[in-house]
Amino acid sequence: MAEQSRILKLGIHGFDGLFATGIPSGSAVLVEGGPGSGKTNFCLTALLSLCKQGHKCLYMSFEEPEPRLREHLSGFSIKPEELEKKGILKIKRFNALDIARSVEALLSEAKKELLIDVQPVLIPTDFEPDIVFVDSLTSISSAFSGEEYRFRIYMEQFFRYLEKNNITSFLIREVAHPTHTGDLFEEQGEAVSFLSDGIIAIYNTLYTDTGKRGRALEVVKMRGTEFKRQIVEFEITKEGLKVYAERMLKGPYKLT
Ligand SMILES: Nc1ncnc2c1ncn2[C@@H]1O[C@H](COP(=O)(O)OP(=O)(O)OP(=O)(O)O)[C@@H](O)[C@H]1O
Ligand SMILES: [Mg+2]
Repeated sequence: MAEQSRILKLGIHGFDGLFATGIPSGSAVLVEGGPGSGKTNFCLTALLSLCKQGHKCLYMSFEEPEPRLREHLSGFSIKPEELEKKGILKIKRFNALDIARSVEALLSEAKKELLIDVQPVLIPTDFEPDIVFVDSLTSISSAFSGEEYRFRIYMEQFFRYLEKNNITSFLIREVAHPTHTGDLFEEQGEAVSFLSDGIIAIYNTLYTDTGKRGRALEVVKMRGTEFKRQIVEFEITKEGLKVYAERMLKGPYKLT
């Protein structure tokens, strides 16, 4: 990638201004939030903008089928099909159970070494992306049910693979409770928190006086850049996310 691409601008309205510079390329960034909080829409908005800037992007969906994801993008001014034709975008659905089975087979072959080659299990061999989106780690982790150590090994290898190939990644993780609001919680797949370079937390907000719900997000961690430590509101529109960094959350509220 060219020199100027060392720092990524996600091109999400109002979001890039939260950073002194931007997201260092090569980072592994977790996008965390509760059900329906907007994780997929956040990633899809970034996806199209990054493709438009010339980055080769792979969207790996373990949840929604490809046509549904393209449907989410139908309101955007640029059509995903055009980007796919140009070879700059690939949207692909994966089956998490297949991956869990392949990892099991690889691990029994590798015996004690615990070193497996995740590349054939994960990244399509005919596409070399600069940026990968995984929607979601939670689905992969569920497919490893009861085999937490296998998921851990797989994740470590996956992060190593991304790092070696200088691939930037956005990894969605569904969390039952917001991680960063003081609630104590334990869950499968905690290993990924310390392996990651950045965490973006997405919240469903509840205004307790009016009973209205809203949406908010914050950058919790981003190695290698300063950022505004502030929870900001956003909206989901048919053209993707719009972040309002200048709007403070008003009145009594809870993050859910
Ligand atoms: N064009 C739109 N305008 C307004 N709201 C929208 C639009 N498209 C989607 N939404 C809202 O976005 C919400 C879901 O967003 P998204 O799928 O990104 O969340 P998620 O965190 O990925 O959810 P999940 O936990 O199901 O994976 C839906 O509840 C829907 O109401
Ligand atoms: Mg989703």
